Amino acid sequence: MQRRTSIHGEWSSRLIFILAAAGSAVGLGNVWKFPYITGENGGGAFVIVYLACIAAIGIPIMMAEIMLGRRGRQSPINTMRVLAVEEGAHPGWRYLGWLGVVSGFFILSFYSVIAGWALAYVFYSGAGLFAGADAEAVGSLFEELVSSPERLLAWHTIFMVVTTAIVSRGVAGGLERAIRYLMPALLVLLLVLVGYAMTTGHFGEGLAFLFSVDFSALDQDGLLVAMGHAFFTLSLGMGAIMIYGSYLPAGASIGRATLAIAVMDTLVALLAGMAIFPVVFANGLEPGAGPGLIFETLPLAFGAMPLGGLFGTLFFILLSFAALTSAISLIEPAVTWLVENRGQSRVRAATWVGIAIWVLGLGTVFSFNLAAEVKLFDKTFFGILDYLTANIMLPLGGLLIALFAGWRMSRQSSDEELALGPMYNAWLWLIRVVAPIAVVFIFLDAVGLLDRISALF
Ligand code: PFF
Repeated sequence: MQRRTSIHGEWSSRLIFILAAAGSAVGLGNVWKFPYITGENGGGAFVIVYLACIAAIGIPIMMAEIMLGRRGRQSPINTMRVLAVEEGAHPGWRYLGWLGVVSGFFILSFYSVIAGWALAYVFYSGAGLFAGADAEAVGSLFEELVSSPERLLAWHTIFMVVTTAIVSRGVAGGLERAIRYLMPALLVLLLVLVGYAMTTGHFGEGLAFLFSVDFSALDQDGLLVAMGHAFFTLSLGMGAIMIYGSYLPAGASIGRATLAIAVMDTLVALLAGMAIFPVVFANGLEPGAGPGLIFETLPLAFGAMPLGGLFGTLFFILLSFAALTSAISLIEPAVTWLVENRGQSRVRAATWVGIAIWVLGLGTVFSFNLAAEVKLFDKTFFGILDYLTANIMLPLGGLLIALFAGWRMSRQSSDEELALGPMYNAWLWLIRVVAPIAVVFIFLDAVGLLDRISALF
């Protein structure tokens, strides 16, 4: 096949791709979401299912997404369109790209609001508000923040403006350099926090919560949340990794890159869990406290450790950057599509997409205060968006990607693109059979169908 090139540019090396994709993967999902959903779903059993989903579903699908992206070299919508033609598949596959664009809008609209919390905490820590604070003081600081629509709106606006400005300038340059230094720095600070957690006297309890497996603590919904989080944390199922794959130089090994990204991402999540749960138990807090969990526990750690003000400020700066590098990948698919199909400049495209997402984000801003009681299925606007995207739209997108890469694409194409050698058959088996069946099984389980079927026998 004649190799395509991307009109949007290319990463300067394979390492940069790994860093950028890891920058997309590592974000609020690892540090903010993983601990609180683990806490809500009872700990160890949830963690095991999440890890199994990363290995059996996430890794093969990530390889498929990178492969499709590199072969198509365009926005996910156009990549799916041309690959469908090339592989003799139905043109309707391009709607998979659309599903991804909508998922990206939904996710970034709430992601930006939570990133705003991290930004606010940079200043809280810098102002010394954590020093010596107890659980009550830290809890009311968080309450004060989220109950103020004005403040949430201001931080959400700042975060969206920065994201849009960076995306306007394209993928190369600043972003590459930033990720290279910031990711390792975040890892070091997480290690500092784990070091502190060891001194709380409750480290063992925290570890036991994370790693001792009791399946009776995990219900059907928990199973779905664990799988959904595997997609969310690896940025899969919506074209973010596909668009980054489209900038990957030909010849770079997709298999090794994927492993590196998945390992890094998982490590950050587990370290965050190990840093947070000991603090939760040491202060008599609730593991299932919900989305505020890290904002109500980490300040206690920073408030009690030497140089805590400095470490806290640095930590929340790095967390904000980690969120930023994920946010960029969330809007990149929509922006590239506007550039390709509407002939818009990058700046214009990014601005329009940014504004649309900012507006949608108002729903999340108000769901923590003015509209906190407006609920559907017992969930706020934020709760619905989060549930719908992570647990339904991303796994659905991932399932379709697996089906396309495994069944519609010729073996010759995928073999050539992946260049996995003897591992190719293992990948093919995972992408054709294991990943799709696992996703469908967990979907059916979540809507109670498996129970009903087994009741028939
Ligand atoms: N993976 C990111 C995180 O864990 O914070 C969130 C995310 C980014 C999800 C990009 C989906 C995506 F396409």
